[in-house]
Amino acid sequence: MTYARITGTGSYLPEKVLTNKDLEKLMDTNDEWIRDRTGIKRRHIAADGETSSDMAVNAAKKAMEMAGIGPDDIGLIIVGTTTPDKIFPSTACIVQRKLGIKGCGAYDVQAVCSGFMFALDAAYRNIMTGGSKVALVIGTETLSRITNWKDRTTAILFGDGAGAVVLEASDEQGIISTHIHADGSMEELLHVPQGVSQGFDITRAGGAYISMNGNAVFRNAVGKLGSVARETLAGNGYTEEDLDWLVPHQANLRIILAAAKKLNLPMERVIVTVDEHANTSAASVPLALDIAVRDGRIKRGELLLLAAFGGGFTWSSALLRY
Ligand code: COA
Repeated sequence: MTYARITGTGSYLPEKVLTNKDLEKLMDTNDEWIRDRTGIKRRHIAADGETSSDMAVNAAKKAMEMAGIGPDDIGLIIVGTTTPDKIFPSTACIVQRKLGIKGCGAYDVQAVCSGFMFALDAAYRNIMTGGSKVALVIGTETLSRITNWKDRTTAILFGDGAGAVVLEASDEQGIISTHIHADGSMEELLHVPQGVSQGFDITRAGGAYISMNGNAVFRNAVGKLGSVARETLAGNGYTEEDLDWLVPHQANLRIILAAAKKLNLPMERVIVTVDEHANTSAASVPLALDIAVRDGRIKRGELLLLAAFGGGFTWSSALLRY
């Protein structure tokens, strides 16, 4: 039996750090409020000229090093991103060029904060049907470019970064199942209200910035993370007791706490890194995964549930044996 297994993880956070105290100088907010409502202490901000593909390449190289593979081994590149370098070509094609690879399939997935998980779903199915043997799956975001730094209701929540995994065909069990969902009827609760086909006009009300109904997003995120986790565990004959780790989308500590409670999962078995990098959208799950692998919390053979929720709305999960 062939499986698709994660053989390497990597992540990258830009050098520049913006703390809650730094934000106090930019808007009417304070460290205590931000920590209390979100659990976030700091976020990283891409340098001038540093792009989503630059960060993706940094994360990918670390994942490739851990997996012990070179550029020529890669048969597929999928990048989840809401903040591509250019309208086209895809950020995945730019990553491919920067890694010095030619010929393999490379494309982007746009599912906002579920972007990496949707990309993982596609790569998993590609490997399982013999399309490729080694896939590079990346989530990367420069959300600072679509953040209104005068809006305290959104600016405190987001940051830049990238996370990557190498997924390989293997005789050992890896991904057990992936699940993806969307509901476009709630588009306006979390969106950037401008785009190519509507025509850009950044002077229009709202600008090309993230716009969000925080309370409604909060409720939906908790509900959907809980439902997709239950669907995934039950679909594979597992319960929350079997899980070693939940690796949830790192949007907000309160969302993670509420989702874990819904699942009856003690926080000792939940990976939390949001305090260090805020919400990095598509990058957040692979970033949290890589941090926890490298600090020794997640070990080979453990049962992991990755789960994400984002604009769209989109929600998604992957159950895997690491
Ligand atoms: N600093 C200080 N005060 C702030 C503030 C900030 N950055 N942002 C809002 N406030 C104020 C509000 O104006 C309000 O004041 P009022 O009571 O005088 O009217 C008060 O704090 C409470 O605002 P509210 O919006 O009800 O707070 P909340 O507890 O719902 O927390 C969020 C707001 C955004 C943290 C919360 O709704 C949330 O986390 N939502 C999900 C966001 C998210 O994760 N999005 C991405 C999902 S992928």
